[in-house]
Amino acid sequence: MPSPQVFAAKDGAVYTTSNGAPVAEPYAAQRVGTTGPLLLQDFHHIDLLAHFDRERIPERVVHAKGAGAHGYFEVTHDLSDITSCSLFAAAGKKVRATVRFSTVGGESGSADTARDPRGFAIKLRTEEGNLDWVFNNTPVFFIRDPAKFPHFIHTQKRDPQTHLKDADMFWDYLSQNPESAHQIMILFSDRGTPDGYHNMHGYSGHTYKLVKADGSFVYTQIHLIADGGFKTLDNAQAGKLAGDNPDYGIQSMFEAIDAGKFPSWTVYVQTMTPEQAENFRYNVLDLTKVWPHKDYPMRPLGKLVLNENPQNYFAEIEQANLFNRFHAAFSPSHQIPYFEPTADPVLQSRLFSYPDTHRHRLGTNYQQLPVNAPIVPVANFQRDGPMNFSSQGARPNYQSSITPLTYLSNKGSINGAARDRERSIKHENWLGGAFWDLSEITELDFEQPGALYRNVMSDVDRDHLVSNIAGHLGGAKSAEVKARTLSYFASVDQSLSDRIAKAIGAPTAKPLPVKPASEAIRFRAGLGASANL
Ligand code: HEM
Repeated sequence: MPSPQVFAAKDGAVYTTSNGAPVAEPYAAQRVGTTGPLLLQDFHHIDLLAHFDRERIPERVVHAKGAGAHGYFEVTHDLSDITSCSLFAAAGKKVRATVRFSTVGGESGSADTARDPRGFAIKLRTEEGNLDWVFNNTPVFFIRDPAKFPHFIHTQKRDPQTHLKDADMFWDYLSQNPESAHQIMILFSDRGTPDGYHNMHGYSGHTYKLVKADGSFVYTQIHLIADGGFKTLDNAQAGKLAGDNPDYGIQSMFEAIDAGKFPSWTVYVQTMTPEQAENFRYNVLDLTKVWPHKDYPMRPLGKLVLNENPQNYFAEIEQANLFNRFHAAFSPSHQIPYFEPTADPVLQSRLFSYPDTHRHRLGTNYQQLPVNAPIVPVANFQRDGPMNFSSQGARPNYQSSITPLTYLSNKGSINGAARDRERSIKHENWLGGAFWDLSEITELDFEQPGALYRNVMSDVDRDHLVSNIAGHLGGAKSAEVKARTLSYFASVDQSLSDRIAKAIGAPTAKPLPVKPASEAIRFRAGLGASANL
């Protein structure tokens, strides 16, 4: 039998059972005689196999493949004139950050260079709780109606019968939901295949609110601009890397940080007052649109720097380190005072969806895990549940009815946070009418994608876009899907559609029949709120 020291780790740790009892021989099993069956009393052996059987938790339903690191966010320019949010109160404020990047559609073993948006999820640990910025690397999104999300995602996943990705269902869905045009134009440009996770920008996509104590607010869009620039791969490079090194993104970021070449981003905000929003050409809550920089300039806010690789990827990025069954759980609903969501229905749905999936995948106490836990003490009435290792001691588990904000007893107290809850309802009323029918398609939906194609992209960008789309759409079998998709691109730009048609050997197509811009809901006055999205 080898000596126990053989199993001592570099740090001097001695091999033990999960309850900490030292074990001399990891391969020894208790059995009847020398050749008989094993004994139920052998806790070491049963514990070993039982834990192994449970090593996997369900992977994220989207964004399953990822990479992450730690670092900091530092405010360089305060926003105290527009918000009472303490994180942005003064230049020099610095908080610890954890970031997880990801692809969206593929499984956790899929290629880092797949054509896909990238997730850019940031956890900022502030003195007022954790602020999660769960962003993407594109400024816009495919949908503005949250009920479409599961349908849309299913078209990016595997066919129920063939278990294959399917170009027909991909384009069948998209061509019939043309509010996706802006995002698709970006996705099928070389920005759809970034060169690694750390060489790309990040965007809030959604409009959030920066609020002041008096209840006034401005709308905001947040941009993280990579200091090293947004680097991309072309289709051929990305495809080759997907075969040669599917973990290219994980590896290149780990090696950059390890070599002291710390990735960094300059963080900017665009802001818009409620009055400006009412005169904005687009609906301020429509995340398929960007805000023109000339009208809404980029205002510098701070720096995000990643300077620390995780010691244990599973523990610090995928999961946390105590019970081997939790992960770094990001949610747009993890917000701090005076940084608030808007009524954007997609954002509103996300506020529910993320904590819901965390409870399903990780358990109700996921926020107590070290990687997720706020740096400030948590005091509330959420008690017990599985894997609870901080059940708030002897503090009473109910809220006094004497005053709605304060509970006092000889066993401790929870004081309500003193915050001014006054809000102007005038603008909210306007919003009630503004997102009446978010799926209605008008010419407005094609203005920005068309301008991107004609005015922003270079000839090379346009060539790549055409060949990238043609390469994918050419794989669709249905002539109807192809024809509809060509109409969709004709609505963006007729010459773009004609070039794609030529490349895939299909007849040219006319633009989709859509309502004129003047009929867009944004321009109609006096509509009441409706559940019809
Ligand atoms: C991950 C739902 C739209 C960014 C996820 C996850 C769910 C989800 C269930 C998995 C979370 C987990 O298991 O930890 C939704 C729904 C959406 C939506 C229902 C719309 C109705 C968006 C948008 C963005 C976004 C618009 C960006 C602007 C992300 C990111 C992650 C993620 C970055 C990965 C977070 C991580 O690294 O843990 N989403 N999502 N999602 N989503 Fe969304």
